[in-house]
Amino acid sequence: MKLLVCGGAGFIGSTFVRERLLERGDEVTVYDKLTYAGREENLSEVADRDGFRFVKGAIEDAEALAAVLDEQRPDAILNFAAETHVDRSIAEPDAFVKTHALGTYVLLEAARERELRYLHVSTDEVYGSIEEGTFTEHSPLAPSSPYSATKAGADLLVLSYFHTYGLPVTICRGSNNYGPYQYPEKLIPLMILNALHGDGLPVYGDGMQVRNWIHARDFARAIGHVLEHGEVGEVYNAGGPDEEPNMRVVERIVELTGASPSQIEHVTDRPGHDRRYSLSSEKVRALGWEPEVRFEQGLADTVAWYRDNEQWWAPIRSGEYRAYYERQYGRALG
Ligand code: NAD
Ligand code: DAU
Repeated sequence: MKLLVCGGAGFIGSTFVRERLLERGDEVTVYDKLTYAGREENLSEVADRDGFRFVKGAIEDAEALAAVLDEQRPDAILNFAAETHVDRSIAEPDAFVKTHALGTYVLLEAARERELRYLHVSTDEVYGSIEEGTFTEHSPLAPSSPYSATKAGADLLVLSYFHTYGLPVTICRGSNNYGPYQYPEKLIPLMILNALHGDGLPVYGDGMQVRNWIHARDFARAIGHVLEHGEVGEVYNAGGPDEEPNMRVVERIVELTGASPSQIEHVTDRPGHDRRYSLSSEKVRALGWEPEVRFEQGLADTVAWYRDNEQWWAPIRSGEYRAYYERQYGRALG
């Protein structure tokens, strides 16, 4: 297939692009604004492959998008492009509204004009928090943060283009991803790097919030299944095989890195913090997908990857991330 992958220089987008180019032989153009979270280095393994192209641009920039679409003529647009960190959405929601609302609208219009297939990457956070049981695709949307509310808005806009204009859209909603190339603002890479550096491990509140962890390679494969076998106009949840409370994740990282348990600190909780996420993935499983990576092994492999790839994270830890960390945690990285 010939794909335009928006946001393909980020964590999950680049995982998807690597898989599609190296294992499926697709042609892929990555279209990415390169925000603080997007890095061309994430695509270095495929940069020299035939069929790969990178174009820097924002999804909300209709002219730049039209130019790349008219030149590349893809069969489908996949949209991974987003602002993705809940804490940043609480501090500065502006970019979340622009990218998720305006950006998604511009992409949908471009797809409609050219009659292109459109796959939207979304999140379990649109359903809000669930104390017991699991969310299905029919669960009501009840987002808690500016991140999840703007993602939910984008999902509804996507579905409206199917109902109103017959645009062939699908949505794939993932649970918490982890794995190589994740920006260290997120729980797992933040804790791994802080553990390795002897820094404090800032657990929000009591740390008993539960997340449904999925390895990014499994989520990327689920998105591929939805692209190839999903029914248009439908939403598919893709959740990981394991649920873990944050404290357990942090304690395991302490063990895997050889850090000291005394590095763990309980800090002020995130406002509006969702207590638990849990997704039912029956619908995407019926398309032939299932997760392959269990959390215990995936976490050990992820710790090993960060340990072995200092050249990837060193420029991040000494750049914008330092200032962000100080603003968010009220202290400098060690
Ligand atoms: P990320 O922050 O690592 O990457 C986002 C990418 O989008 C970056 O390359 C960035 O440069 C690009 N981008 C941001 N705004 C853009 C814009 N206006 N125009 C073009 N490019 C832009 O994010 P991620 O964790 O890889 O998430 C990818 C998608 O998956 C997002 O839609 C996110 O909501 C969704 N998702 C993430 C998770 C998770 O746990 N990380 C779980 C479920 C769903
Ligand atoms: O559920 C899918 C979502 O998962 C994605 O849509 C988001 O893009 C992604 O960022 C992620 O959101 P979370 O808020 O769940 O992820 P985060 O890594 O920020 O936090 C995971 C849990 O860890 C959450 O309960 C908050 C807690 N946490 C996080 C950080 C950064 C801490 O206790 N301390 C921290 O320093």
